[in-house]
Amino acid sequence: MRQIYAYMDTIQIKDKTFAVSIREEDILKEVSRVAADINRDLAGKNPLFLSVLNGSFMFTADLMKRITIPCEISFVKLASYQGDASTGVVKEMIGLNEDITGRTVVIVEDIVDTGLTMQQLLESLHTRHPQEVHIATLLVKPDKLKVNLNIEYAAMKIPNDFIVGYGLDYDGFGRNYKDIYTVINQ
Ligand code: IMP
Ligand code: MG
Repeated sequence: MRQIYAYMDTIQIKDKTFAVSIREEDILKEVSRVAADINRDLAGKNPLFLSVLNGSFMFTADLMKRITIPCEISFVKLASYQGDASTGVVKEMIGLNEDITGRTVVIVEDIVDTGLTMQQLLESLHTRHPQEVHIATLLVKPDKLKVNLNIEYAAMKIPNDFIVGYGLDYDGFGRNYKDIYTVINQ
């Protein structure tokens, strides 16, 4: 029996093995806490939640089921292209059709790692003159953060290890698992 459990707790994706590190039940407790904070802080502001695909699809679904204040939701993607030497890879936001002028916007992300993606997203949103922009992320890797971000709503802080599951991928695979797995060989 123990053998079977041990087997089920690890997954193989391409060259990497991952072991379960955060169970769905524990993820949902933290997602509920974040939702309660947002319900309290943004009541009366009719926020527009902006879910950043693909990674945040599962977090977005579980979070939004727990948001009880009037709100809207929209989905965006980040398209990467090569910028100049100073900017490196630029990520442009695509898919936002709503007018966000004067709105309260909540970015819903899967993970803030170096924070560079989030920084570019914030810059791109600010050109559209929202009233305020808040960050809600499932995960933060504080040790890797390179930029100064005000992350008000973070479900969980994790060490600097590569993870998959609950929306996050390794080379496109692993997004479908309900638990989060951490790499154990690399
Ligand atoms: P950042 O720009 O360094 O903050 O990177 C953020 C993006 O990198 C996330 O939106 C993810 O797509 C990806 N990423 C960072 N860490 C991980 C991880 O541990 N597993 C899967 N994807 C990750
Ligand atoms: Mg992402």
